Amino acid sequence: MEVILAEHAGFCFGVQRAVDTVYEQIESRREDEPPIYTYGSIIHNEVVVDDLQRRGVHVLSSLAEAGQVPEKKRGTVIIRSHGVERSVCESLKALGYQVTDATCPFVKRIHDIVERESAEGKSIVIVGDKGHPEVEATRGWSYTETYIIGSPEEAEKITFKENEALAVVSQTTFNYKKFQDVVEILEKKGYNVSVVNTVCNATEVRQTEARELAARVDVMIVIGGNHSSNTRKLYEICRQECEETYHIRTLADLHLKLPETVRLVGITAGASTPNNIIEEVQNYVRINF
Ligand code: F3S
Repeated sequence: MEVILAEHAGFCFGVQRAVDTVYEQIESRREDEPPIYTYGSIIHNEVVVDDLQRRGVHVLSSLAEAGQVPEKKRGTVIIRSHGVERSVCESLKALGYQVTDATCPFVKRIHDIVERESAEGKSIVIVGDKGHPEVEATRGWSYTETYIIGSPEEAEKITFKENEALAVVSQTTFNYKKFQDVVEILEKKGYNVSVVNTVCNATEVRQTEARELAARVDVMIVIGGNHSSNTRKLYEICRQECEETYHIRTLADLHLKLPETVRLVGITAGASTPNNIIEEVQNYVRINF
């Protein structure tokens, strides 16, 4: 039996950069300095978040919580790759925190587009999942009205004001094909749209590769956190190609009984899955089957 690991499984550039930033801050912090915080979990991976907690990194889940920390203990807050609303950055600074921005540069680019286009008076359309932290953060850089469209069906239903100029961007981890479909619908409806495809290439590459791999193998394993939307999407894509697709968080979730006929097992992982977890799963499957 052969195991094939997708080339682009696991941490993308932005997540790696954010996680590295936290570890660098831990290294450089002096004992007498106030603690390090991340604004929200640095990534959607419980294993990494637990490790950081053991090293004294606290998670701030809201501005209210940040405000409750005694002033002497207000140290560095690291902004994760998803980014935050402009107002959050400003409020953290006003509360006396040092802000280290580890927003992925590709997400930052979206914030810049939204800021610029809205300053010119355009309304902002974000094609993405309502409630996703990246989408909510992006929304927070607009000076004008924002709309979130999560599917072609929603695009069919939505109506805008006459002559409303729209700037359309996408959540970085959104499905590229769905994004194109949404844009096509808006254009067909005759709206005045200027579109920037901001689906991140890392997602596209990972999804395409996963689809191709899943189509070739007998069993497909997708590794990633339960709350990671890009992992869920990878799972959906693989499941379409390979019925025997399993989503696991770590090796502990893997309870596979592989029939003799299985020749090829494929493995991929979401953007927030650390390499050591991927390696563990890969080695286990290699050795045990
Ligand atoms: Fe950045 Fe793309 Fe990853 S936007 S955080 S490199 S998925």
